[in-house]
Amino acid sequence: FDRALPGSINLGLGEPDLPTPDVIRKEAARIVVEEQNGYTQHAGLPSLRERIASDYRFLEGKTERVIVTAGSQEALYLTLMTLVDVGDEVLLPDPGFVAYPTIVRMAGGTPIFYSLPAGNDFEFDAEDFRRRLSPRTKVVVCISPSNPTGRTLSNEDLRAMAAALEGTGVHVISDEIYIELYYTHEKPSTISDFYERTIVIGGLSKSMSMTGWRLGWLCGDESVIKSALVLHGYVTTCASTVSQKAALASWSDEAERAREEIRRTFRERRDHLLSIIESELGLRAISPRGAFYTMVDVSAYGDSMSVAERMLEQRVITVPGSAFGTEGEGFLRVSFCADREVLDEGVRRMNEALKG
Ligand SMILES: Cc1ncc(COP(=O)(O)O)c(C=O)c1O
Repeated sequence: FDRALPGSINLGLGEPDLPTPDVIRKEAARIVVEEQNGYTQHAGLPSLRERIASDYRFLEGKTERVIVTAGSQEALYLTLMTLVDVGDEVLLPDPGFVAYPTIVRMAGGTPIFYSLPAGNDFEFDAEDFRRRLSPRTKVVVCISPSNPTGRTLSNEDLRAMAAALEGTGVHVISDEIYIELYYTHEKPSTISDFYERTIVIGGLSKSMSMTGWRLGWLCGDESVIKSALVLHGYVTTCASTVSQKAALASWSDEAERAREEIRRTFRERRDHLLSIIESELGLRAISPRGAFYTMVDVSAYGDSMSVAERMLEQRVITVPGSAFGTEGEGFLRVSFCADREVLDEGVRRMNEALKG
């Protein structure tokens, strides 16, 4: 991003360009003006933890199984630091979010990658997953919808994953930061409905356009939560009090309508982007079922890094698929966090880069 030329179009973004819904902004403004905002309990406001707990069947309403964090990134860090010891193996998706292997290494663990094969549109491959498990596997990370592919895990995938892990004692970290951004009839399923030893990572960054508010959470297994809470208390004390209080408005009818509107906007952009990638570039792009990314197959034009460099020269920013793992090689991650006109111009520039 730093090397982008002035006037570049950014299709590499990992955050929504849409405004945070009014219902949240107005509530935050009121809270700042009218209320005193000191620390909350380390684990977060009890009323917010209650709301979060009510969203996950497997928590059985137990608020003590929830910690509110400074974004889901902190939740991910706390969970991996809590669960992973030196020498442990952690199964990670390939392609997957770049933070996973980095944090695993920081914890002294060894990342082992299970393939979501590009040749099969980055779908879950149960056989490959089973092959990667070993007696040293301590944790598995799964994500649905996925960054970078936008693909989701079906009930069948989740059942297969749960069956492979049954009796191993392995913990699953389920990254559900994109779960409210879906383009299917129903919200994607969660592994927590199929496998008991699950820690769910969630938050409002993506679904409510609240990336800078730093509001996320982790929830699940009580013993893991207890240890993670000690770390959280010393690292951040508590998530921002203003953000926590404003986040309560996210469980209102008005917020639900805002979420629907955000989904509708992204769905339209997704359809438009896929159609112009096909008509203007003649390239294969993965149809995302959630999140706001597609993977575009540019393998005919060289390796993903050099193609991304050529795009940069034409003033359009994309992310080389190789950044997300070996399965991402040959693809660019293109996000649709931009309106129609910007997507049109971005794809026009991509075409220039490919022709040049
Ligand atoms: C897959 C995934 N998980 C977690 C995060 C962290 O998001 P936040 O800390 O804003 O909740 C991101 C952000 O890009 C992401 O893409």
